[in-house]
Amino acid sequence: MENKFIDSHVHLDDEKFDHDREALISSLYENGIELVLNPGSDLDTSKAAVGLADKYPFIFAAVGCHPHDSRLMNDDTMEAFRKLSENKKVLGIGEIGLDYYYDNSDRETQKIWFREQIRLAKELDLPYIVHDRDAHEDVLKIMKEEHYSGTRGILHCYSSSIEMAKEFIKLGFYISLGGPVTFKKSKTPKQVAKEVPFDRLLIETDCPYLAPEPFRGKRNEPKNVKFVAEEIARIREVGTDIIAEKTKENFYRLFNLKQEN
Ligand code: NI
Repeated sequence: MENKFIDSHVHLDDEKFDHDREALISSLYENGIELVLNPGSDLDTSKAAVGLADKYPFIFAAVGCHPHDSRLMNDDTMEAFRKLSENKKVLGIGEIGLDYYYDNSDRETQKIWFREQIRLAKELDLPYIVHDRDAHEDVLKIMKEEHYSGTRGILHCYSSSIEMAKEFIKLGFYISLGGPVTFKKSKTPKQVAKEVPFDRLLIETDCPYLAPEPFRGKRNEPKNVKFVAEEIARIREVGTDIIAEKTKENFYRLFNLKQEN
């Protein structure tokens, strides 16, 4: 039987899917995708994610504000996220975090709203999904300071070291690898792919961004998560079916969902 994958991070609400969204979503299953998680990046995209989740049983949503847009955050937005998360298809808060590569919002503002949204996840007893670009130390520091029993979530498109991965795992987190693990020069993600404990591994596309080889630079789609799985399978010297199974098990465990097959 053909492998079915869970893509743990998609942005199917993105405008790059405006012209073919329905067709693409309708063909996900036949293209090897069992389920996807679509986080928001601000209030509008969080609403759009919930809209998609309401419409399709195999799409789940997370709601939250990306560090890029944290300068737009205020108490009303937080309240709106709280309301949206009452929807049963909302699995977590995200994506939230710090991005020191683009610095689209100033770092102090990013930190404030990262912290506030972690506290929202705590209040709602939901996992949270972390975006960390060139901010590994501060991300880990804030996560440690805000740690509580029951903390859990995903480090999405993980790009830091295996040593730090172990720290995040200790805090209750799962490590999700995406397209960069397939790039020839990506030594660190390949090392993480090799050494991360099997029961904490997830895979994702982050589509429409970060297409894996052989589609690097093109619009990414959930079906390409297969190339991420194949590369991890190659590195770990196991079958791709093992990666598909383990990452599904992990996803269902993290979000306390019932696995159907
Ligand atoms: Ni994303």
